[in-house]
Amino acid sequence: MEWQNKLTQLLGVTYPVIQAPMLGVTSPAMVAAISNAGGLGSLPVGGFSPEKTRQLIQEVKSLTDKPYSVNLFAHDVPDIDSVQAEAMRSYLNTLIDKNGLHAEVPDLESLKFYTYKEQIAILTEENVPIVSFTFGIPDDGSLTKMKQHGIILIGTATCTEEAILLAEKNVDAIVLQGIEAGGHRGSFIPGDVPQVGLMALVPMARKAVNIPLIASGSINSGETVKAAFALGALAVQIGTAFISANESLAIPAYKQALATAKDTDTILTRAFSGRWARGIKNDFIDKVESTGLDIPPYPIQNSLTGTLRAEAQKKDNGQLTNLWSGQAAALSADKLPSADIFNKIISETESL
Ligand SMILES: Cc1cc2nc3c(=O)[nH]c(=O)nc-3n(C[C@H](O)[C@H](O)[C@H](O)COP(=O)(O)O)c2cc1C
Repeated sequence: MEWQNKLTQLLGVTYPVIQAPMLGVTSPAMVAAISNAGGLGSLPVGGFSPEKTRQLIQEVKSLTDKPYSVNLFAHDVPDIDSVQAEAMRSYLNTLIDKNGLHAEVPDLESLKFYTYKEQIAILTEENVPIVSFTFGIPDDGSLTKMKQHGIILIGTATCTEEAILLAEKNVDAIVLQGIEAGGHRGSFIPGDVPQVGLMALVPMARKAVNIPLIASGSINSGETVKAAFALGALAVQIGTAFISANESLAIPAYKQALATAKDTDTILTRAFSGRWARGIKNDFIDKVESTGLDIPPYPIQNSLTGTLRAEAQKKDNGQLTNLWSGQAAALSADKLPSADIFNKIISETESL
């Protein structure tokens, strides 16, 4: 099987298979394991401080000399509506008390939001070879700085209109995130969140833009990789299949939930972060959504729920923290080293 194409050549990888950046799940060890296996490991740093961003990049660099990417959240921070946020804060504190968790929701004055703008200098100083981004498009100044530094840029689109907007900014490749995908929607056009399935999205975007396309959403096997290539993608980006990996930061209850999840068990919700994301339905989603409270936008809700989620994770409580997952979780919940999961998908694809 011929794996090489113009995208593998641009990225400098053996296989056009990308481990999705997964904030809260992907560790530097996972990134390095995939890059060392010939794929592209992706390090998520969305919303991290410049210091933490640098430390994680340096950790990846200490574990691999192969190409890797760093993933940014390219969103703006909205003003806080204090009435809306205080109501949510007070509800979350009640939920913490009722569940005997030792946490407190931070007060609004103490919330600190880092954005990609503070991370660009770190990426250039650390000579990061590839940067991917989601939730929007970085401003022109940031794009130019990265381009001038020779960084390869990969945007994320959830519909054809977003792919066209990314193409107008001359990105090098586009991740097409189908509605099946786990985690946050990368959507950024105004209005209702796009809900296009990967089977429609890849051919539609391919007609509209002339840029290498990367298919993402419920890809986890030889068949699904082949299907993505048949649709015209030049690479795939795989998330959920790596959540149960040994190098994953996911708690045991999360891995367990993935192993038994039905195709109907995930939903799109704003309850955890204020941004639409796909995860396995649990008590937290039910409770927050049934309050009738207005959910503050991302990243405000994300920060308000952060201490509660961290405490639930410490207690291995999968009912009160986010269990991001694609629709086909149970097909790919192997508890193995990341490289074994990766190699299995490669050899399955080769055998077809
Ligand atoms: C736990 C989790 C966290 C994610 N975090 C990010 C992220 O930080 N940045 C990003 O661009 N995409 C993120 N995604 C979305 C992935 O890039 C990708 O679109 C998705 O995993 C593909 O669908 P799949 O999970 O069915 O393979 C995340 C997905 C999951 C499951």
